[in-house]
Amino acid sequence: MRVEVDVAPGLPGFTIVGLPDASLSEARERVRGALRNAGFHHPPRRITVNLAPAEVRKTGASLDLAIALGILLGSEQLRAGALRVGVIGELGLGGEIRRVPGLLPMCLALVRRGVTSVIVPADGAAEAGLAPGACIIPVTTLAEAAEALRDGRSRRPVPVPLPRAGGPAAEGIALADAALPAASAVPVADLGDVRGQVVARRALEIALAGEHSLLLVGPPGAGKTLLAQTIPGLLPDLDDASALAATVVASAAGDRHIAALVRRPPVRSPHHTISYAGMVGGGPRLSPGEVTMADQGVLVADELPEFGRDVLEALRQPLEEGVVSVVRVGRAAVMPARFTFVAAMNPCQCGHLGSVDRACTCPPGAAERYQRRISGPLQDRIDLWVGVDRVAAVDLVGGPPAESSAIVAARIAAARDRQRARDDGAPNGRVRGRVLADRCRMDAATERRAVDLADNERLSGRGTDRLLRVARTIADLEGSDRVRIRHVDEAAHFRSRVLVAKAREVA
Ligand SMILES: Nc1ncnc2c1ncn2[C@@H]1O[C@H](COP(=O)(O)OP(=O)(O)O)[C@@H](O)[C@H]1O
Ligand SMILES: [Mg+2]
Ligand SMILES: [Zn+2]
Repeated sequence: MRVEVDVAPGLPGFTIVGLPDASLSEARERVRGALRNAGFHHPPRRITVNLAPAEVRKTGASLDLAIALGILLGSEQLRAGALRVGVIGELGLGGEIRRVPGLLPMCLALVRRGVTSVIVPADGAAEAGLAPGACIIPVTTLAEAAEALRDGRSRRPVPVPLPRAGGPAAEGIALADAALPAASAVPVADLGDVRGQVVARRALEIALAGEHSLLLVGPPGAGKTLLAQTIPGLLPDLDDASALAATVVASAAGDRHIAALVRRPPVRSPHHTISYAGMVGGGPRLSPGEVTMADQGVLVADELPEFGRDVLEALRQPLEEGVVSVVRVGRAAVMPARFTFVAAMNPCQCGHLGSVDRACTCPPGAAERYQRRISGPLQDRIDLWVGVDRVAAVDLVGGPPAESSAIVAARIAAARDRQRARDDGAPNGRVRGRVLADRCRMDAATERRAVDLADNERLSGRGTDRLLRVARTIADLEGSDRVRIRHVDEAAHFRSRVLVAKAREVA
């Protein structure tokens, strides 16, 4: 984004052109007030501010400071040094400079264009300094910013001393991060407190190890929500690249102060009443939606069929492509949305279809209608399907303790490391076709078994891929380079259509 300021003789006026939105028109007032209060004068001339590129709608207050400095330069109240600097910040009427959302992505964009010195609001300096290669010049007032520009020739910008990703102070980042409130909205439970549900626990482990989408289907009280609450404790820290990506999203959301890279993966669990815009993103400031907030982490959809139809359909693109398109004022913005999808649902409205201890009271056909709320294309994108039933009361107490989250988390972390070390480092859940088959390194007998299972289940081409993807992750959890028959067999347990099959059995 470029700000061009023209200060010309003529009737006094102040015009901003180049698709500014309402919030930017208010920039005129903020800039006027700030100039005056900082001891400069607002030149009584014709001021035209052009925001480029012209076709991109500008929003928010992040250009205030650039506009004010442009006016100072254009009216020769300020002579700049030789330095090429980027300028980001909102102005208060008194000339104070405020933090704006999206500091980190803006700094990254500047550095990509070769502008490495950036004037930023001082209270956002730590966040801006997370952009690798940026030299941050923190300022608190317009006067200070003007001073920094003037001194460009003589004074070099001071890099903010910050622990950088992978640097010697990386430990410090982890510590600082641990002190932050968890990004997730869900309460955290430990797998050690989940009784029974051997298959569902295993499916969750596989899903998180390989970034496979998972659907748990079962009656109320089976522990589906409880299982979802164990997710934050099962995920390894983000690596440097993922941490930067997650921090960019947190910065764009702008709802919290960022002092260090976000090292813990986000776990988002939006309520089923969420709006389309809330899930996908948008609004005047192009705020990230839940699918983007879950980028690099997990999106939990509890009570899946209760979500709005358009909200459910909107999940297809992120699940397939790892991004989401948001249409705004005739332009589509693409935002990152790569997450592991974990969903849970009752098999029918009353919840008891197929359960051992209670009969379903739904009218005929109602259960299938309920299940069809999850459309075929969305069903196709779910790798792991698990039917869960209630654990009997006697088994909820006593018995040997189950594996704790720490033990399972260690297996997940090791399996993820194996995937990252492989060719392009993609998680198994995102590999398709030829690359996937190569990755599996199956012998002839295993390949035959996979084909047989595929024929048996009449799996589509997509279904065969799904079987192999899951088998690859099961082998990775075991530390096996090759996918063996036992891995393919286990993967076949998590086949789709548990839903409809159950419905038919009962009917
Ligand atoms: N397998 C289980 N192990 C331990 N507690 C369980 C289990 N299943 C259910 N519970 C208990 O029952 C409560 C309700 O379970 P919940 O996870 O809300 O079920 P669902 O989401 O399947 O309706 C849980 O908070 C937990 O106290
Ligand atoms: Mg529940
Ligand atoms: Zn029912």
